[in-house]
Amino acid sequence: MASHGQQQKSYQQYHQNRHHHQYHYQQHQKKRKMNLMPIKLNRRRFYLCLKVMLLFVVFGLYFVLLLRESMTAFSSNRMKAGVKSEAHKPPAEGRLARPAKSALHHKHHNHWAVASQHASSRESADSDQKQLAVAIAENHSTLNPVYEYSEELNAAAEADFNERRSVLWNVCADHRIIGKYPPNAWEFFISPGHGLAWCNIFKAASSTWMYYFNLLGGYDIRFLQRTRSSPIDLARKRFPRPSTAELNDYLSNTISFLIVREPFERLVSAYRNKLEGCRNKYYKLLGEQIVKRFRKKPKEGSKPVSRKYPKGPTFREFLEFLVAHYKSGGRFDEHWSPVYSFCTPCSINFTLIAKVETFQRDSEYIIRQAGLETLLLNKLPRSRMRTITNRAASNTRNLTPRYFSQIDERLLTEVLEIYQLDFELFGYNSTKYYSYVQDSIEEG
Ligand SMILES: *[C@@H]1O[C@H](CO)[C@@H](O)[C@H](O)[C@H]1NC(C)=O
Ligand SMILES: *[C@@H]1O[C@H](CO)[C@@H](O)[C@H](O)[C@H]1NC(C)=O
Ligand SMILES: *[C@@H]1O[C@H](CO)[C@@H](O)[C@H](O)[C@H]1NC(C)=O
Repeated sequence: MASHGQQQKSYQQYHQNRHHHQYHYQQHQKKRKMNLMPIKLNRRRFYLCLKVMLLFVVFGLYFVLLLRESMTAFSSNRMKAGVKSEAHKPPAEGRLARPAKSALHHKHHNHWAVASQHASSRESADSDQKQLAVAIAENHSTLNPVYEYSEELNAAAEADFNERRSVLWNVCADHRIIGKYPPNAWEFFISPGHGLAWCNIFKAASSTWMYYFNLLGGYDIRFLQRTRSSPIDLARKRFPRPSTAELNDYLSNTISFLIVREPFERLVSAYRNKLEGCRNKYYKLLGEQIVKRFRKKPKEGSKPVSRKYPKGPTFREFLEFLVAHYKSGGRFDEHWSPVYSFCTPCSINFTLIAKVETFQRDSEYIIRQAGLETLLLNKLPRSRMRTITNRAASNTRNLTPRYFSQIDERLLTEVLEIYQLDFELFGYNSTKYYSYVQDSIEEG
């Protein structure tokens, strides 16, 4: 009995144990479920957090964008209000230097003093800056001056425009070429709605006005800064080439203008851009042809030329090519075509003749005359402004003597036959080039 009782006891114990185990097992399972639940919950919470964070980031970015926009609007308003434009310098430095500059400005009220002070204060600056300082010191140009609109400047611009027009028409009359060249409607950009007609001279600050016309054409600023399409193609989509009849129609009720540049600086610029580098396929080919035709071969028996020739044509070879091309009556490439036959200023009564040398002042004058201040004024991105109007042009100005020192007087005289009229029409003086060239040539 005892054993039976024990057995039963142990049986009960067994059952109890079993029950206990089962209980534990269930508890364990429950716990696992409980553990699983929070994971699910956590995951849901995690996604929610992620969404919220994403929203925050998006709103943050949007806010920053808004802030930037309003800052630009603010600073451009300040510029308009008379705080000096600092577009010609890196922003960080501009911010630091502004108070001193403003003070200077009010003291001297002389744009040149301010600009050259600025230029001379950074003697460690690179050669570009030095060249700019030289150009400014020479007073030859208002290229990228610290420009600010004022009645006096406006009056000065107006006086210059009148003077240029009168010089032009006198030269046209003297040379008896009034109406001689048929207008070249093909090269005009006309926006009748804005009352502007522009004859685009390549290598004379044309990219800036191309940008302006793209703005007039309705392209968004941010699109223009981002896009890889060529500005001229974009502009042509909005301003197709007019017919001669259309051009004549529009000329009578638009402000017509062209932007000219010192003819030989333009020529050097075209050479450097199109032939010296030789990147473009078409110009590479042209360069090869020029070299083939105009590179002097060393005479037999003479010792080989010590100077290493570049692959593309030299400036002398390029000019020899131009002279031969001119004599043969060939059509000139738009980048070095003389202006008198390209924009035909003696056949078209242009309202305004702007110059690269006074580019900002003249451009602003045109913009104000056309009443396009809100559309165009201060709309040039800073980087673009620096690269377009300033460095390239002042570089070329300082490099031009060096290029002309490669040629001799005979060649200069022949090249001047092509471009002398441009010099005279637009009030430039070509005499100095005779001091750059070599007196005599070593034939052979
Ligand atoms: C340079 O320009 C300034 C300001 O326009 C003028 O006052 C000064 O007379 C000019 N100097 C020369 C040498 O032309
Ligand atoms: C050009 O136009 C202006 C004003 O429209 C006029 O005063 C001037 O006489 C014209 N000149 C020529 C040469 O046609
Ligand atoms: C050009 O400048 C020189 C002096 O540099 C002067 O003798 C000459 O008369 C000027 N030519 C013209 C057309 O103004």
